[in-house]
Amino acid sequence: TVIRREDYAAPAYWIDSVELTFDLDPAKTRVLNKMRLRRNPEVAAQALKLDGEELNLARVLVNGQGTSFKTEGDQLVLENLPTVTDAFDLEIFTTCAPEKNSKLMGLYVSQGTFFTQCEAEGFRRITYFLDRPDVMASYTVTLRADKKKYPVLLSNGNLVEQGDLDGGRHYAKWVDPHKKPCYLFALVAGQLVAREQRIKARNGREHLLQVYVRPGDLDKTEHAMNSLMASIAWDEARFKLPLDLDRFMIVATSDFNMGAMENKGLNVFNTKFVLASQATATDVDYANIESVVGHEYFHNWTGNRVTCRDWFQLSLKEGLTVFRDQEFSMDLAGEASARAVKRIEDVRVLRTAQFPEDAGPMAHPVRPDSYIEINNFYTVTVYEKGSEVVRMQQTLTSREGFAKGMALYFQRHDGQAVTCDDFAQAIADANPSSELARLLPQFKRWYSQAGTPQVAARGHYDAAAQRYTLTLTQSCPPTPGQAEKLPFVIPVALGLLYADGLEIPGSARTVVLSDAQTEVVFEGVASEPVPSLLRGFSAPVVLRYDYSDAELLTLLAHDSDPFNRWEAGQRLALKRALATIASGATEQPLDAAYLDAMRAVLRHPQLDAAFKELVLTLPSETYIAEQLEVVDPQRVHAVREAMRGQLALELREDWAWAYEQHHDTGAYRPDAVSSGRRALAGLALAMLCLAARETGDVVWPGKTYQRFKDAGNMTDRFNALAALVQSGHALARDALQRFHALFKNEALVLDKWFALQAGASDRGGDVLPAVKQLMKHPDFTLKNPNRARSLIFSYCSANPGAFHRADAAGYVYWSERVLELDALNPQVAARLARALDRWKKLAEPYRHAAREAIARVAAKPDLSNDVREVVSRALAEE
Ligand code: ARG
Ligand code: ZN
Repeated sequence: TVIRREDYAAPAYWIDSVELTFDLDPAKTRVLNKMRLRRNPEVAAQALKLDGEELNLARVLVNGQGTSFKTEGDQLVLENLPTVTDAFDLEIFTTCAPEKNSKLMGLYVSQGTFFTQCEAEGFRRITYFLDRPDVMASYTVTLRADKKKYPVLLSNGNLVEQGDLDGGRHYAKWVDPHKKPCYLFALVAGQLVAREQRIKARNGREHLLQVYVRPGDLDKTEHAMNSLMASIAWDEARFKLPLDLDRFMIVATSDFNMGAMENKGLNVFNTKFVLASQATATDVDYANIESVVGHEYFHNWTGNRVTCRDWFQLSLKEGLTVFRDQEFSMDLAGEASARAVKRIEDVRVLRTAQFPEDAGPMAHPVRPDSYIEINNFYTVTVYEKGSEVVRMQQTLTSREGFAKGMALYFQRHDGQAVTCDDFAQAIADANPSSELARLLPQFKRWYSQAGTPQVAARGHYDAAAQRYTLTLTQSCPPTPGQAEKLPFVIPVALGLLYADGLEIPGSARTVVLSDAQTEVVFEGVASEPVPSLLRGFSAPVVLRYDYSDAELLTLLAHDSDPFNRWEAGQRLALKRALATIASGATEQPLDAAYLDAMRAVLRHPQLDAAFKELVLTLPSETYIAEQLEVVDPQRVHAVREAMRGQLALELREDWAWAYEQHHDTGAYRPDAVSSGRRALAGLALAMLCLAARETGDVVWPGKTYQRFKDAGNMTDRFNALAALVQSGHALARDALQRFHALFKNEALVLDKWFALQAGASDRGGDVLPAVKQLMKHPDFTLKNPNRARSLIFSYCSANPGAFHRADAAGYVYWSERVLELDALNPQVAARLARALDRWKKLAEPYRHAAREAIARVAAKPDLSNDVREVVSRALAEE
């Protein structure tokens, strides 16, 4: 059934408090749920309908007495409740089977430890409840379990009591001092150890911080703990938001559907975003840990203290919290150039993942209007585009103004469940003379209209009048259910450069578009300028401007905005990719002008290594494909590979220089400067191995192999391994074997091993057979989401050149895996199902074959709602 935003109705009952008692047992866990409820006097008297899923119901008591009840579908319906509005007690006793829970929603067992995941609607798999975020209750939780098997018993809030019970069992009682919606409930029980840290906040309050992991992983928790402490300090400093708990716990599990979960005081994390040592984790892992730890911590205010009224408002907490974690990482990065690197990385994610989503069958507004399965809407649109929408609010009110807006938001809504409207209203009200306040109703179209707006720019230079006129025109393509779009409010940061690269004084400004067309006039412009548009990617739009090579080369070499310097390089590469794809030829896509420009960046005496690495990385196949009306994925792959080969070969001396200059980064530290050096050295090795294919050079592959063996950290080791694998060198086989032998007991490293092979550059269709072979590897299992993602998603979603095969075998493989996974874990299956979102853009024979594969999935009668929603949207006629 379709759930619609416009159908929102306040709950007929409130739950004031909950007392939960768990007798934990993997096969049969008993849950006693004692609630105190009250009718909501603002809603007409009606039956109480509680959500429940896969529960065995044993007993229902109202005020201690037996009562009549019935079940309607998954709901428990109580009709004969006291009619007065006084509070009453409801006691429900159920059992569930955590060890059989392969969906990893609700209460489940991972490697002998109990975990919960309740967002969005997992609490109903634990007990009958009003499973909706606007019902907030006080929780008291008692956990009882075998003491040997489950020595650690955790839940939200404060530990108030613990002790032994008969029969080798013990118990722990937890009280959460904060009211919360049930999606923030959590429990953990098992054999765990913790890194602990006591801190004193600015306001003098003391806190205990704990990072719980399996015994043996303690030495990999330092970075997560440091990241947590940095997060606490940052939120106090930037937004004056303190930690409101005595105890803040993070627990890692290797079986987790998503990245992490912000349960109040008891965050549960995918091990991928907790565990790090220099031997096992790359710089990217370190950066991800910092940002995910920050993200979950920041939810404590944006999500937990102020939560969502309903799940359509998901971006209220997710878009805002992604914005906060991005700002956190940028502030920690320090210098302007390191901030820019983070910004470029974030924009790259937005443009390669969110723009396609916004142009495909799953396109939805940041605040969706309807859904079948809410889990399908934890998307890059809700998260990353949502973050951009918050970022624009900051741009339109200034950094200080936005902070004031946040303060007003908490002043008004602390302890409430609210909407995206409430958020934008608070930011605007705190800044009454801002452009946001002036244009608020129109600005909010970012929440209601799907699709990526396009801004087309045209410049006209009048030499006689020394006047430059810039005309900016906005439009937005139709999306499912939204044929026509109204104009957006689009802040366009820009400036003008003279052809020699000097910025025209006074030309820099932020133009706020609100009409379909806007003209900006610059006076006193001495010669035809080069416009630097959408600096810092000031809005999530596609900017169209017919740049000449000369203009792009000027921007690449001189723009004061590092984002647009990078963007100019990407545009130069893209122009060449698109021209070559259109020409039908594949040879020599790159000309001397481009190669010289790249050499100049690579050899530049002042630019940061991290920035150079970004500029010298070509736009991805996915990004290139998005620019085309009709996509032949094999052509895109062949042309991009030819570009890479040429860049490798023609700059080989420069790459060798770059490697020698950057490969030594001293003792391992994951900071921005040394990780940037490692990234550039890694790219240089990849290029040198690629060039060696052409030249027959044996020195660099040999050096790479040696580097692989000697590396003192995972970043260098993995980059060397990837260079051998991606260039298809004969040494890759041996290196892969050694790598496996070295890390056979490190699950997260094995994930990298699988992912690297599944993501390898395809040569004559060799990747799919390798993937199929790897499915039979003893270390492979479909049941562990990280492992399934590392092999299957790396192939289907991240390796277009290998996946889109003319013989359709990639699609057949995909449909089999979607169906197989769906029986186990619908949430993971539905993510995989999205791999063919853009099938309508494909050229034949791919298009027809992809459609058939989707139809084959759709033909299965007992599909989950999750997968059903994705495939029926994919097949819908627009
Ligand atoms: N709120 C979590 C986060 O972004 C994500 C949890 C999503 N889980 C799910 N089953 N949909 O940090
Ligand atoms: Zn989140």
